[in-house]
Amino acid sequence: MLRTPICDLFRVEHPIISAPMAGSSGGELAAAVSAAGGLGMIGGSGPGPEWLREQIELVRRRTDRPFGVGFITSAPDTDQLMETALELRVPVIAHAFADPSPYIRAAADLDILTIVQVQSVELAREAANAGAAAIAAQGIEAGGHTGYTSGTLPLVPAVVDEVGDIPVVAAGGVADGRGLAAVLMLGAAGAWMGTRFVASEESISDPYAKEQIISHGADDFLLTRVYDIVNDAPFPEHVGERILRNRFTAAWHGREDEVSLRKAELARELAASLEAGDTSVRRVLAGNSAGMVRDILPAGEIVRRIVEDAEAILRSRPGELLG
Ligand SMILES: Cc1cc2nc3c(=O)[nH]c(=O)nc-3n(C[C@H](O)[C@H](O)[C@H](O)COP(=O)(O)O)c2cc1C
Repeated sequence: MLRTPICDLFRVEHPIISAPMAGSSGGELAAAVSAAGGLGMIGGSGPGPEWLREQIELVRRRTDRPFGVGFITSAPDTDQLMETALELRVPVIAHAFADPSPYIRAAADLDILTIVQVQSVELAREAANAGAAAIAAQGIEAGGHTGYTSGTLPLVPAVVDEVGDIPVVAAGGVADGRGLAAVLMLGAAGAWMGTRFVASEESISDPYAKEQIISHGADDFLLTRVYDIVNDAPFPEHVGERILRNRFTAAWHGREDEVSLRKAELARELAASLEAGDTSVRRVLAGNSAGMVRDILPAGEIVRRIVEDAEAILRSRPGELLG
C-alpha cells in the first residue's frame, strides 16, 4: 500500500487527488474518487452557489469520505462561493490563480484545510507563508489553466525544497501509475490529476471533449491565451490555458495583440460558429497527459489502476535497476 503524508493529512487511503475542474468535475466525479480512496475535488467555479450546494450535498449522499472543492480564485464570485463551502463545512478547499491568504484564514478558523495550486517557486513560498496545508505544484504541461514558467519535473523538487514540511502534490502530466511513481520519487506526496479524470464516466465534460482526449496524443495540445483574451476570462497574466489545438488556435495563437484589438469581432464569429455546431473551433481543455489516456473509465477504476500500477513499478524497478 502506498502511504504518504497527504493520506494522514486528508484522511484518505491513496495519494491521489482528482483536480477541481470547472465544467468537468461535479459532485458525481468527486464522490467516485473519494469513495475509491482518493480525494475527490469539485470544480466549484462557474454555475454559482446553488449549483455548488447541490454538488456538495450530492457527494455527501454518495460517500462519507473526505472530499474537497476548488476555486478559480481570480473569478469575481469567489467570495460568494467560499461562503457556501464554509457554511457546508467542506473538509478541504483549494485555491488557484489569486492570493489565497484571506480565504486560508477563514477556512482555518473552521478547521478546514486549504490546498493552494501554484505555478512557480515564488508562489509556493507565498502559499506556505499564508498557511497552506498542502501545495499543488502545477507544471506547464497541465491541462486547463496553468503557468508558463516550469514543467512539473523541475517544479516539484524545487517546491519541495522550498516549503519544508508542507506536503506537495504534483499537478500536470500525471495520468497513470508510471507518473504517480515518478512524482513520488521527486518528493511529491501525491498526484493531482485532471485530464485523466475528464475521461471518466462521472465527469460532466461533454462527450465530445472526452472523445477528443482519448483520440489525441501528447503533441496535440498547446498553451495559449487566445480564448481567454476573446472571452475576457478572469486569469492573471502569468497564466495561459492548455487546450487541444484546433482551427481557432491555428489561426490566432501567436497573434495575441491582434486578437486583443479584434476581440469583439472574434467573439461574435466564435459564438456564431459554435452555435452552428462547428466543432473545429470548440475549446477542449486537457494536458499533454491525454497521450496516455485511451479509454473512458469509471473514476473509481482509474484510482484503483493507477495505485496498483504505481505500487507494482515501485516494487519491481529498484531491483531491475540496481541489480
Ligand atoms: C478540463 C479542466 C478544467 C480545469 N479547471 C480548473 C479549475 O477550475 N480550477 C483549477 O484550479 N484548475 C483547473 N484545472 C487544472 C487542474 O487543476 C490541474 O492542474 C491539471 O488538470 C493537472 O494536469 P493534468 O491535466 O495533466 O492532470 C483544469 C484542468 C482541466 C483539464
